[in-house]
Amino acid sequence: MAKLIYIESSPRKSRSHSIKVSEAFLNSYAKEHPNDTIEKIDLWAEALPPFSDEVLDAKYSIMHGSEPSENEKKAWEKIESLFNRFNSGDKYVFSVPMWNFGLPYVLKHYIDLITQPGLAWAFNPESGYSGLVSGKVAVIYATGGEYSAGSQTEAFDLQKPAFENWLAFIGLTDVSKIIIAPTLSDPTEVEKTLNSCIEVAKKTAKSF
Ligand SMILES: Cc1cc2nc3c(=O)[nH]c(=O)nc-3n(C[C@H](O)[C@H](O)[C@H](O)COP(=O)(O)O)c2cc1C
Repeated sequence: MAKLIYIESSPRKSRSHSIKVSEAFLNSYAKEHPNDTIEKIDLWAEALPPFSDEVLDAKYSIMHGSEPSENEKKAWEKIESLFNRFNSGDKYVFSVPMWNFGLPYVLKHYIDLITQPGLAWAFNPESGYSGLVSGKVAVIYATGGEYSAGSQTEAFDLQKPAFENWLAFIGLTDVSKIIIAPTLSDPTEVEKTLNSCIEVAKKTAKSF
């Protein structure tokens, strides 16, 4: 029995393209994998703690091999609990809208909180950095414009390269992608794109 964690980062809910396609994915996954569990983490409903001075100091204490203070330990417990929830998945689905060419700030906030030494990654002077998270990933991106490979707008895309570098950094390299683009266009064309992404999502979920 596997556990799939779904991380939602659009606040637009019923109007969101990335959520619509993710829901099609999850419904198809649930039908095909009736014994698996799905846990949703809606980043807009989570009370994410600030990345405080104490968290930062705890991070550097850990990285430098020194003993964290009591305040640092307390701050670190919250980080560990957030990370442990994330790390309890065997598979991950992310819905990721493009905001100002990059990621919505709640997703960046979550990434900053959970990407910690000794939890998400390790460093060894001989072998360098290694990711400590494992599992399969499906990412459902939505962008208002189009940023396809080889196009003039490709260089503006700070969403997919940044997100996939982060996934790889923490050890998640088995990644399927669905790109819903453009979502800010002629409504009939957008509807067609959305429906075709929904079909791809349903199919991808079956063998996920
Ligand atoms: C705050 C904000 C910033 C955005 N910035 C961009 C952008 O830089 N480039 C782009 O192509 N679309 C941009 N968009 C459009 C969204 O990427 C598009 O509406 C997408 O469908 C959002 O995903 P969702 O439908 O799942 O919410 C932006 C939308 C919002 C709300």
